[in-house]
Amino acid sequence: MPAIQIKDKFFELFIPEEKILKEVQRVADQIGNDMLGKNPLFICVLNGAFMFASDLIKRLDFPCEVTFIRLKSYEGTGTEGLVKEIHGLIESVTDRNVVVVEDIIDTGHTICQLIETISKDNPASLKVATLLFKPEALKIKVSPDYVAMDIPSDFIVGYGLDYDGHGRNLRDIYKLRR
Ligand code: IMP
Ligand code: MG
Repeated sequence: MPAIQIKDKFFELFIPEEKILKEVQRVADQIGNDMLGKNPLFICVLNGAFMFASDLIKRLDFPCEVTFIRLKSYEGTGTEGLVKEIHGLIESVTDRNVVVVEDIIDTGHTICQLIETISKDNPASLKVATLLFKPEALKIKVSPDYVAMDIPSDFIVGYGLDYDGHGRNLRDIYKLRR
């Protein structure tokens, strides 16, 4: 099994680019069926989703718009401890058909907060597309509308996802070697 080192950790090949792109095409076809004629607004969640969003959206051949947000974390007083605030959303989502494009859903906290925040501005519809979904790690009940791949609760890098800022440039997805 080919292994790579990123900083102090070793990772092994988990999902090759060919398989990733096959699943991205499948999600693009699903979104195409659902969103044709609805001029959807895709909201790519930076940094991790940049590569997925790029490969996904270039496979759609109907009118749509694309924008980007970042989530800023800060210590909150809520029970979850960590509150995330949206930065950079200039476009109005009111009455729009919105598709949030995420890299991975792990515990589900991030996407739930995002859904809650965006919902306040009354979009016509709100869907979630995620590259990866770790159903076993989920702490909040959430069912993403479009999932490229379900994975076990391993830590992964590549194809946009990072370990301590590194590994986003990898074409394939790697998992932490135990
Ligand atoms: P959640 O809020 O626990 O669902 O976590 C979502 C965020 O945690 C993702 O958007 C990623 O930035 C990060 N994350 C979760 N699992 C992984 C992983 O396996 N590798 C890299 N980042 C991850
Ligand atoms: Mg993310």
